[in-house]
Amino acid sequence: MPSESCLSIRCAVVLFFLQIATLTMLLPTCPPECICLSQTQVLCNSGGLREIPKKLLPPTVEHLSLTRNHFPIIKSDSFAGLRYLRKLSLDGNNISIIKPFAFRGLPRLKELSIQQTPLATVAQFAFAGLQNITSIYLSHNKIRKVEGYAFAGTSNLKLLVLSNNPIHKIESHAFSGLTNVERLSLPSGIRQLEPDAFNGLESVGYIKLAFMDLPGLSAGIFRGLTNIGVLSIQESDLGIIEGSAFDEMTFVKSLNILNNKIDAIDYLNITQEQRIGHLKMQGNHILEIPKAETLIVEVEKLTVISNHFPCNCHIHSLLEGPLANGSILDFISKNFCISPLEVNGLPMTNVDVESIGRCEEEVTRENLEASKDSNPSSNSRHVFVNSACLIVLTLFVR
Ligand SMILES: *[C@@H]1O[C@H](CO)[C@@H](O)[C@H](O)[C@H]1NC(C)=O
Ligand SMILES: *[C@@H]1O[C@H](CO)[C@@H](O)[C@H](O)[C@H]1NC(C)=O
Ligand SMILES: *[C@@H]1O[C@H](CO)[C@@H](O)[C@H](O)[C@H]1NC(C)=O
Ligand SMILES: *[C@@H]1O[C@H](CO)[C@@H](O)[C@H](O)[C@H]1NC(C)=O
Repeated sequence: MPSESCLSIRCAVVLFFLQIATLTMLLPTCPPECICLSQTQVLCNSGGLREIPKKLLPPTVEHLSLTRNHFPIIKSDSFAGLRYLRKLSLDGNNISIIKPFAFRGLPRLKELSIQQTPLATVAQFAFAGLQNITSIYLSHNKIRKVEGYAFAGTSNLKLLVLSNNPIHKIESHAFSGLTNVERLSLPSGIRQLEPDAFNGLESVGYIKLAFMDLPGLSAGIFRGLTNIGVLSIQESDLGIIEGSAFDEMTFVKSLNILNNKIDAIDYLNITQEQRIGHLKMQGNHILEIPKAETLIVEVEKLTVISNHFPCNCHIHSLLEGPLANGSILDFISKNFCISPLEVNGLPMTNVDVESIGRCEEEVTRENLEASKDSNPSSNSRHVFVNSACLIVLTLFVR
């Protein structure tokens, strides 16, 4: 019957479209380059993707892996709309630029991994606004520089991994906005810490700065750093420590200065108000003895052990100063001489400290204690030279 067959064809067509409609409803979309294990788990690894297939991804996706594709640039708001995304991996891509606010609109993102890429700069606001993220893995990239405010507003970040990057420079305010980090480890080879490099960083469990090669710890580097468990500066060439490097750094439970080479300590002014708990100076080679009168070290606990100092005429100033804090015998039994050559590496106890003469200017200063000048050391040196000349003259006259 013609009408019946017509009906069945119609039915078939209607059924066909119905089926497609239900299929697309149940299995919304999956980019052809990807494997959607479920509507929450999508793998697009080695998919040859050149753009992030945001529109084709199920909006419910929680775990998204986009490793080994070809994204040279992560644009602003690249993932906006994926409100359920918790874990995102972009490892192994050819990423050279991350635009500001690239990851905006991901309120549930907890873990982000961008590793093994040629990324060279962590630019301003690149990771801004990731309110709920706890871990960002950025190791094995080509990062040379972290710009200011790169992590602005990512206040729940606990773990930031930057290891295995050729970072040379930390710009001012680079970590501003990180207010609850458990551990911050910077890679080796840092050559420049700008003033305020750590400003805006608070409540950090552990900051480790190792294998740096700095001209000095200059003014303002640690300014604004507050509420820190351990700040450890170690195995580095610290050049000249300017006392003002530690200005306005507060509430550090443990400040460790370990195994560094220090050319000189200009002065130190660590005051009680800064609330530094334990200052531990251990294993450092200090090439010049800081003058006792330039050191203010008001900390709760002070440990100065296994350091190497020159055992020259300034040693008296060291032993009478705040680094020894009155325990001279203890100090000389636990620290070493770096010079002169014949005592290099020997404990200070092996040297007859009493037999080392006091420095000219110290002696002269003691003699001139009464008549104080604004610039005692250079003045007293003149006075000493003058009096020496006078003695020589007197001898000649005789
Ligand atoms: C990576 O991207 C750069 C430009 O951003 C391009 O010059 C280079 O050819 C790309 N390399 C690969 C392997 O795709
Ligand atoms: C952030 O994470 C917490 C705990 O993991 C969760 O309770 C909260 O809803 C998240 N915030 C948003 C905006 O999803
Ligand atoms: C040490 O620092 C405090 C405040 O941080 C300041 O008032 C004081 O003048 C400084 N002292 C020296 C000798 O620089
Ligand atoms: C320095 O020595 C005094 C007296 O022994 C002691 O009370 C004080 O705690 C010491 N200071 C530090 C920082 O260890």
